[in-house]
Amino acid sequence: MLTLSKEIQNELQQTARSIATIGKGILAADESMSTIGKKFVQISVENTKENRRLYRQMLLCDDRIKEFISGVILHDETLYQKDDNGKNFVDLLREKNIIPGIKVDRGLVTLIGTYSETTTQGLDDLKPRCEEYYKLGCRFAKWRSVLKIDDQNGLPSALAIVENARGLARYASICQECRIVPIVEPEVLSDGNHSLERCQQVSQKVFAATIAALHEHNVLMEGILMKPNMITAGHDHGPSNAEEIGLATATTLLRTIPASVPGIMFLSGGQSEEEATVNLSMINQIGSKMRPKVPWTLSFSYGRALQNSAITLWAGNAANVGKARNELVRRMKANSMASQGRYMPEASSTSSTATKSNYVAKHVY
Ligand code: 13P
Repeated sequence: MLTLSKEIQNELQQTARSIATIGKGILAADESMSTIGKKFVQISVENTKENRRLYRQMLLCDDRIKEFISGVILHDETLYQKDDNGKNFVDLLREKNIIPGIKVDRGLVTLIGTYSETTTQGLDDLKPRCEEYYKLGCRFAKWRSVLKIDDQNGLPSALAIVENARGLARYASICQECRIVPIVEPEVLSDGNHSLERCQQVSQKVFAATIAALHEHNVLMEGILMKPNMITAGHDHGPSNAEEIGLATATTLLRTIPASVPGIMFLSGGQSEEEATVNLSMINQIGSKMRPKVPWTLSFSYGRALQNSAITLWAGNAANVGKARNELVRRMKANSMASQGRYMPEASSTSSTATKSNYVAKHVY
């Protein structure tokens, strides 16, 4: 029977644990060309390879980030790019003791016979790509699958739940074979006017189906990280408060995710920077008082909720790099505190961009 060797199991476990180090989280900087292009339009920056390099250099090259960040998810393009001093971004991260990760999915495709539900593609050549990424220094990967809630049309359908769970499981199994820790991301979108309770019901089914599929594929639970949505009401429903979100999220995770998984690193899913931080802190505060209390590191793997203020301040101008980085580090520090349930909002120093919603309908990455 084919199984992962003890050596591979140990390596995976070590990588997953070190990404889930208490007080640290992940910076998701793996936006596709078209997604980053939409951000660049807002700051009037042309979407060129060089501008993407300059932007990622702004994000990655400050020494202070190593205190709060254990891993960075990169886009394939960034793997081959260098900073202004000719140093490869991957080496630069490794020198800071930050683990480089890589987005390996190839985006969403629709499922015929559904109301525009999707599955994620990219499995066919995933093994050779993972082998190559390992050689280049990547030690973890991301694969995003997306589920929508729409009660009128019965979404998510049973087909979408099963198909996305299987895709995530097959991806996870291939990554582990290649010594790469898979981030398993079943994202239930916040699009819609559903209640928080409905989000909880659906997320519970989706997370449970995902874990069941991981077991069917003999995935080593100690060698993965989960990246779920928080449990919130739909974007058009009106806001839920942080206590409700904290309780519903911790409850849903306790019901569905095995204690053997080392870390749960949330996506921000269109929340403002400040909301994503406050909610993460509350999930940790409430989760640590529950019985049983939450057994995992509960931290962040944010894209929009770490980058929004920084990209706005940067605006493509080298003279702004310093202040953009100061804001980025401030958000990282705030989320580091939140991952320990210790974030205290500082009303006086919260910028207007930090409270601005990052919601994008039908968000693609
Ligand atoms: P957001 O935090 O912007 O939702 O994205 C994180 C991510 O990596 C989604 O795949």
